[in-house]
Amino acid sequence: MEHADGGAPSPCRSPALWAIKHETKLIARSPGGLSFYHNFLFFIPVKRVLGQIFSSHPRVHENAGCASRYFRGIFTVKMTISLLQRNSLDSKMKKIDLTTSIGKWDLKNPVLTASGTFGYGQEFADYIDLNTLGAIVVKGISLLPRPGNPPPRVVETSCGMLNAIGLENVGIEEFIKEKLAVLSQYDTDVVVNILGDTINDYCELCTRLDQVEGIKAIEVNISCPNVKRGGVAFGTDAGMAHRLCSEIRKMTGKPLILKLSPNVTDISLIARAVEDGGADAVSLINTLLGMAIDIKTKKPRLANIVGGLSGPAIKPVALRMVWQTANAVKIPVIGIGGISSAEDALEFLLAGASAIQVGTANFINPAVSGEIIRGIKNYLLEQGLEAVSDLVGSLQM
Ligand SMILES: Cc1cc2nc3c(=O)[nH]c(=O)nc-3n(C[C@H](O)[C@H](O)[C@H](O)COP(=O)(O)O)c2cc1C
Repeated sequence: MEHADGGAPSPCRSPALWAIKHETKLIARSPGGLSFYHNFLFFIPVKRVLGQIFSSHPRVHENAGCASRYFRGIFTVKMTISLLQRNSLDSKMKKIDLTTSIGKWDLKNPVLTASGTFGYGQEFADYIDLNTLGAIVVKGISLLPRPGNPPPRVVETSCGMLNAIGLENVGIEEFIKEKLAVLSQYDTDVVVNILGDTINDYCELCTRLDQVEGIKAIEVNISCPNVKRGGVAFGTDAGMAHRLCSEIRKMTGKPLILKLSPNVTDISLIARAVEDGGADAVSLINTLLGMAIDIKTKKPRLANIVGGLSGPAIKPVALRMVWQTANAVKIPVIGIGGISSAEDALEFLLAGASAIQVGTANFINPAVSGEIIRGIKNYLLEQGLEAVSDLVGSLQM
């Protein structure tokens, strides 16, 4: 069929039917059904199509005014209802309180990025609005720059990855001068993750960071499985963990978060030891010690032979440890381990975590933390809860 004005042939015998068919298709195609956004978007093109068809086709011309008034009426009602619903949802959303606290430090929401999986923050600025994050925990920093381990340092495993990066970093001075200067432009709290070989190293790092503005908290890595000295040695012995924590406590008034290793028999013992030593919070878990072998070469797939397992594969272990620790200490617990969605994060909050960190999932979807924040908010709304604090530790037995 040709349009009266000789325009393009309409794909259907009746232009009115064609228009109605297309309206239905457009709305059916819209992922949110009849949401305000989609009605708004579709209203304009569909109205234009209807107007053109009704005004250009001789047989329907006389009905054009009547039909377009009819469709306009439907759209207007739909839009008004959607707008009212949207406004009431918006005002409920705005009332939801996502804030959480770690000691005297108040965070805008409980979603942080995990050390070593988010670089120094800026690398992710093209993918996610850094200002929306609860905090950025930067790559582990040592007194002097470190080259890390030789490659291969990363291996993909079922539902996770093994890494033996070996704490490569730019060192404290370059971090403060270059990386922190860039991060300070954002309205996001910065947590510096530190590592050392000796108690003295940790003390020096804390003394240096204590004087630096723009650092909200210090996360102390006593749990890295990929280095030969220090690190995990402190995290697997309750006595050493207590000593280290008591010493660094003297060096800084900033909130101290001790990052615990899962490579122990009872993680809650280590958590209690650092709580006694003056920690403001504990974060857990770091990676689980693992290994992979290439059966063709019959050699280990990591140059370091062993590495740290992370990602969804470790989530159940991490969740269990967070729940055990939250029941063993009074200080806040930050949950880490395989968190890839809002549902995962919610499990950790229910188990007693006051906040969570997103790690390996950043490599799959660099915007995942934003999705997790929105998902937590939606869940609170659905559950009729007003604050994330209503959720923390509310696991039903
Ligand atoms: C590539 C890589 C580098 C990491 N580097 C550090 C680090 O420098 N300091 C640290 O405390 N943890 C580091 N981690 C451990 C993570 O912060 C996190 O505790 C662990 O990966 C578990 O969380 P996930 O399963 O969500 O990744 C690293 C993890 C990965 C995968």
